[in-house]
Amino acid sequence: MLRVEKLSAYYGATQILHDIDMFVESGEIVGLVGANAAGKSTLMYSLSGLRTRCTGSISIDGRRIDALQADQRVPLGLVLVPERRRLFPFMTVLENLEIGAYSADARAHRRETLEQVFTLLPRLAERRDQEAGSLSGGEQQMVALGRALMARPRILLLDEPTEGLAPIFVNLVYDLVRALRALEQTVLIVEQNVQHVLRTADRAYVLENGRITMHGTGEELLGNERLKVAYLGL
Ligand SMILES: Nc1ncnc2c1ncn2[C@@H]1O[C@H](COP(=O)(O)OP(=O)(O)OP(=O)(O)O)[C@@H](O)[C@H]1O
Ligand SMILES: [Mg+2]
Repeated sequence: MLRVEKLSAYYGATQILHDIDMFVESGEIVGLVGANAAGKSTLMYSLSGLRTRCTGSISIDGRRIDALQADQRVPLGLVLVPERRRLFPFMTVLENLEIGAYSADARAHRRETLEQVFTLLPRLAERRDQEAGSLSGGEQQMVALGRALMARPRILLLDEPTEGLAPIFVNLVYDLVRALRALEQTVLIVEQNVQHVLRTADRAYVLENGRITMHGTGEELLGNERLKVAYLGL
């Protein structure tokens, strides 16, 4: 579904990503792991059409999208949940969710998608009229995830969705990812929580200093000696 070929990305004259090749098939959960400053968020921004200057190609279902602006990519189904959640704190949970449904297609299916989001994330249904800024950090992350789902993504891009969360919320995020897999929702998920993501993802890529250095199934990477030493502290 998503194919990236020889993608390089720059901030000014500084090259951050070097010749990235990767793909995500429909219905797959794919992980992207790497140390701080490896370029994981830069890759997510490049896919979304935000911030960076890029060369190389990005296509969805064979259609090149790399020349499109960010707001033209959302209706094609690329939806990013960025690092740190960026909710509207003085709006309610429900209002924050509804803002996610801004493309014409998402607006048309708004009620039905909202029901689905409340089924996947029942805490949001309980707190629908509460101001988002008064929620706990983990609950706010649930709202950010729900808001992205309201856009009816074809591929959901999650940038460190468990960062800073208590273990109970980390588990809830991964429960959601597994529920999305059952719904055949395609997900690309950036994580520093390497064990968790490798146990959940179908496949994963390792990004080091702006280059993909390893990829394989979650199981293969969990057994990889070099990865164990570098990231798993084993
Ligand atoms: N707006 C910017 N201008 C210049 N350099 C930037 C900018 N944003 C990020 N960088 C640099 O790009 C490199 C990659 O950053 P990036 O945020 O993609 O890493 P990351 O893998 O997401 O790290 P983390 O795990 O800490 O989120 C870093 O060296 C960072 O300093
Ligand atoms: Mg990052």
